[in-house]
Amino acid sequence: MKNLVILTGAGMSAESGISTFRDAGGLWDQYPVEQVATPEGYAANPKLVIDFYNARRKQLLTVKPNHGHELVAELEKYFNVTVITQNVDNLHECAGSSRVIHLHGELTKVTSSRQPNNPKYIKELKPEEFEVKMGDLAADGSQLRPFIVWFGESVPMIETAMEYAEKADIFLIIGTSLNVYPAAGLLNYVPRAASVYLIDPKQVPIASGREVHVIQKGASEGMEEFKKILLG
Ligand code: OAD
Repeated sequence: MKNLVILTGAGMSAESGISTFRDAGGLWDQYPVEQVATPEGYAANPKLVIDFYNARRKQLLTVKPNHGHELVAELEKYFNVTVITQNVDNLHECAGSSRVIHLHGELTKVTSSRQPNNPKYIKELKPEEFEVKMGDLAADGSQLRPFIVWFGESVPMIETAMEYAEKADIFLIIGTSLNVYPAAGLLNYVPRAASVYLIDPKQVPIASGREVHVIQKGASEGMEEFKKILLG
């Protein structure tokens, strides 16, 4: 089976009702990113940040995968699929995708404020534990923080993501403005011989100078078209 590597961003979950970040009215219009998604913001006002992610978790309980997520999962019948997502929701998993690499963390997990990437302290929350409070502690005695990669923090999963990108026969990008590195640079690791596709209703500038087959549609419709192109 060919290796199909799919890089997804917020647009993948837009049709499930989760806001994107940089579209008009997106999350970063509503909440100052430096307050809710940086280590400095967390140090200045941990409660604000914890509440912001509590609200995201609460929303997660009300949303479902869309047809685009379902088609991504279905393609496992025909390809060796790896999903590399910038999304912190679990909608790819809910739709049935079996290999999902989360570059920016996961809403359903919390960790230590002192050593966020130490696997010893990363904990999966049950839905009834989704509301984290000030004073809830990790196993090392520090405040439980969201297991989210904030701006300015390292992206530990990027190495694994690069290894999959380097083995791609087909590389598909869905619903990301490609503004955030290192995720946006993954295309540079994709072999020259691989074919590259991009699904997004807007035009997304790509600096790599390589040929990209653009499907200018939303995730669900775009995935239908992608499937047709590949499988007929
Ligand atoms: P953006 O909000 O920057 O980009 C979303 C992309 O989705 C845009 O290109 C939209 O045109 C596209 N889009 C909108 N509706 C769509 C639909 N129905 N189907 C397909 N695409 C659609 O989000 P990301 O690129 O994912 O990080 O942002 C990257 C990172 O920046 C996020 O992971 C987050 C953010 O800050 C952290 O929070 C650490």
